[in-house]
Amino acid sequence: MTALQGTPQVASVEAIRAHFPALERIHGGRLVAYFDGPGGTQVPRQVADAMTDYLLHHNANTHWQYPTSQETDQLIEEARAAAADFLNGAPDEIAFGANMTTLAFHLARGLGRHWGSGDEVVVTELDHHANVAPWRRLEQERGITVRSVPLRTETGQLDWPALERAIGPRTRLLAIGGASNALGTVNDIASAAALARNAGALTFVDAVHYAPHVLPDVKASGADFLVWSAYKVYGPHLGVLWGRRGLLDELDIPKLDPAPSVAPEKLETGTQNHEGIVGLKAALDFLAALAPADGTRRERLAVTFDTLHRRGEALLRRMWEGLGGVPGVRRFGPTPGLPRTPTMSFVVEGRTADQVAQACAARGVFVSSGDFYATTVVERLGYARDGLVRAGCACYTTAEEVDRLVGCVRLAAAGGLAAG
Ligand SMILES: Cc1ncc(COP(=O)(O)O)c(C=O)c1O
Repeated sequence: MTALQGTPQVASVEAIRAHFPALERIHGGRLVAYFDGPGGTQVPRQVADAMTDYLLHHNANTHWQYPTSQETDQLIEEARAAAADFLNGAPDEIAFGANMTTLAFHLARGLGRHWGSGDEVVVTELDHHANVAPWRRLEQERGITVRSVPLRTETGQLDWPALERAIGPRTRLLAIGGASNALGTVNDIASAAALARNAGALTFVDAVHYAPHVLPDVKASGADFLVWSAYKVYGPHLGVLWGRRGLLDELDIPKLDPAPSVAPEKLETGTQNHEGIVGLKAALDFLAALAPADGTRRERLAVTFDTLHRRGEALLRRMWEGLGGVPGVRRFGPTPGLPRTPTMSFVVEGRTADQVAQACAARGVFVSSGDFYATTVVERLGYARDGLVRAGCACYTTAEEVDRLVGCVRLAAAGGLAAG
């Protein structure tokens, strides 16, 4: 994503912050600085308002002959269209579900029905476990082989030659993350999908950590399936699966007999989270509305994401360099300037990740600690016991908050674990 000359003005960070009531919270006598976006971002007021309006004025089940049911049908279709704009796909390629993990298990069950001994799935060590466990399960249940592409711990990137070697004529699917929720590494999905396609395999992309930072483009990516979660992109707790048209139709997904057999509804088990679906559209409209009013929703999203990406790069560089100046801090992941999101993990010598996170929280700075289900990444880095500290920048993060975070870590490193 390059900065275009004359890129239209996107709302300032101050203007963006005014939409988020959570940013008014005081903890430890200070305004809370939320660096926990990779675990779930805060929500703008208009998302909560849209969900409340749905529940109070349009609440119904689908496909019946009275206004609230018809309004519900309409709102779901509008949300599919918004999600399609976000991904550069088509509305009938979008299925909703509880979250990414549930959708991934569901899809794996459907695909795996036709696989057995001799079939292979390629996963990566950089991935969240939600993009590993569903495929490992097929190893146990159906006797397929799962190959794991190693992480290069010194750079935080995938061992690309190993990825090329792992994909072969027996590969049925490559399961790869768009970006690492632990290290921020952005993978070259288009090249990976091309490798898979040349071997006759499908590509499944976990875009949960990618979509908050890089506008997905399913057409350009060459992927076959892509999943993301609205709650990481300023929306409610809801998962979205995109699947290439035709593939979704063919999919032999477990379902109850009376349920629709056409895509995308055949992937949606039971009654959906209607208010969540409405909130998802509101979140995407919120992001599009940060850009000037001309252009399609996708064009406006592209302008917003381009600006947020550049702001995120500057914040990440400030955080990386600031933490690098704290004695005892060890940083992980790609250095600033490489393809990455504004999310980084680090440790402080002599402190567990939880201790550092507690010291930050006492001063109103909220960071995550542990393994974030990126279990293999944390094991490979040697911190399975003490965990990593993770700080992620979002659209509402300021340079001043980054400096506060660095100050808290400096205090924690110097032994100041209690509030002060
Ligand atoms: C990269 C990544 N993939 C998958 C998941 C799982 O997503 P969900 O909570 O929607 O199941 C997460 C959640 O943290 C994530 O960060």
